[in-house]
Amino acid sequence: HGRITKICCIGAGYVGGPTCAVTANKNPDVSVTVVDLSESRIAAWNSSTLPIYEPGLWEQVQGARDGGADRPQNLFFSTDIDKAIDEAELIFVSVNTPTKTMGAGAGLGSDTSYVEMAIRKIAQVATSDKIVVEKSTVPVRTAETMREILKAIGKPGVHFEVLSNPEFLAEGTAIRDLLAPDRILIGSLLNDHGLQAAAALAEVYARWVPRERIITMNLWSSELAKLAANALLAQRISSINALSAVCEATGADIDEIAFAVGTDSRIGPKMLKASVGFGGSCFKKDVLSLAYISECLHLPEVAAYWQSVVDINEYQKDRFTKRIIRCLYNTLNNKKVAVLGFSYKKDTGDTRESAAISIIDALVAEGAKISIYDPQVLESQIWSDIEKFKGARGDVKQYVTVCKDVYKACEGAHAIIVLTEWDEFSNKQIRKRMDWQRVAESMDRPSFVFDGRNIVDAGKLEEMGFRVECIGKPGSGWFKG
Ligand code: NAI
Repeated sequence: HGRITKICCIGAGYVGGPTCAVTANKNPDVSVTVVDLSESRIAAWNSSTLPIYEPGLWEQVQGARDGGADRPQNLFFSTDIDKAIDEAELIFVSVNTPTKTMGAGAGLGSDTSYVEMAIRKIAQVATSDKIVVEKSTVPVRTAETMREILKAIGKPGVHFEVLSNPEFLAEGTAIRDLLAPDRILIGSLLNDHGLQAAAALAEVYARWVPRERIITMNLWSSELAKLAANALLAQRISSINALSAVCEATGADIDEIAFAVGTDSRIGPKMLKASVGFGGSCFKKDVLSLAYISECLHLPEVAAYWQSVVDINEYQKDRFTKRIIRCLYNTLNNKKVAVLGFSYKKDTGDTRESAAISIIDALVAEGAKISIYDPQVLESQIWSDIEKFKGARGDVKQYVTVCKDVYKACEGAHAIIVLTEWDEFSNKQIRKRMDWQRVAESMDRPSFVFDGRNIVDAGKLEEMGFRVECIGKPGSGWFKG
């Protein structure tokens, strides 16, 4: 393989869009085309309202997509999948791999049908050699399946080389992560063809990533490394959350615990923030996938270990909900409850697996009237997420309203529940933050704040008359000595 000049990416989602925008910006001489089955998604990528919200994304997309005096136009979004595949020398597959909902492994294993569909398409269409790069997170040994299909269906004389190149970006910081990644991982077969393909892909990254951060290894290690990374990250969150339950029962403070243990260089301070639980499209799905793979490999103890990481996360959400109900005197009937934040974390509009969804469901089942405010999530997205509610009797719109204004959401409420750590909800700094004093004056009394993200200064809120309950801390009702 020579130098890569044309790249195709199948899947214009949270991964495909941002990664290709940065790749195009950093490789002005390479043409990058992102394709998708969804016409509306492609239309949005070609418009001034991108389909996803991510700080810094617009600048990356606009520069490469629209070109300018100092740079060519080299980023394209299209639904012409066949053409983009055939023109490219290298094809990223970054389609979704959600948890299976039916059949064997339902609720646990990964659904690789979208990956297989994309691979079959590549095999059918390609008239020249291709490097096919697995960017989606997949069960270990998926590349083997891909090789087999490509070989069986591909045109005679066309050679396909499959690489694994998992993506480690985190939503909310995707552009920062892509511009300065901790590492780039490239897995290949260790024969000549494989190593040459890996080198060609490494060349693309080397335009902006220091060489020592581009790691190459065997295919299966690379595939498993992505699942391992997410499992370990999720495990840290579940560990600190499990400890938060001990804190609440004893008067210890989880933020102090995290600080104390995080200063140990073997433990480190990151990913030790206690919360209502992790969300997002990846952690739960990938941990369950690892558990299911372990089960299929006849390693039930390993499967049970990883399953417990997800179990603690569910427990944490449930515990928080029960605490809310208990503090509100065991009845929520017709009480207004303001939910601040609906996305699964700050700086993204993504709501997949957001803790807000299941918590609001449980509160609606108690008869609460919920008003939701989120600075980024589209109202239509909120409605489509809560449509699936089990808790509501009759139309959910009887119980839920979506507000564009945080003060409107809180007006007359008995309680505020902070579920996303958006900066504007914090009262620790004044600038561009919401005015908690104003909120205090408009609420029903006693006024509660349940902080599922530990971002408020509870002392200051208590001075304003709030009763404050944080994760892993003694609440306002505790004797503090
Ligand atoms: P997404 O759901 O946002 O995007 C996937 C896109 O692929 C969709 O627009 C869908 O229409 C398209 N698609 C599906 N099948 C197709 C086909 N056969 N041909 C053309 N287009 C097709 O998913 P997202 O979040 O971008 O994730 C993609 C993969 O990356 C998943 O495997 C995920 O686990 C992994 N990943 C996700 C991260 C995240 O933060 N969202 C981070 C790291 C990895």
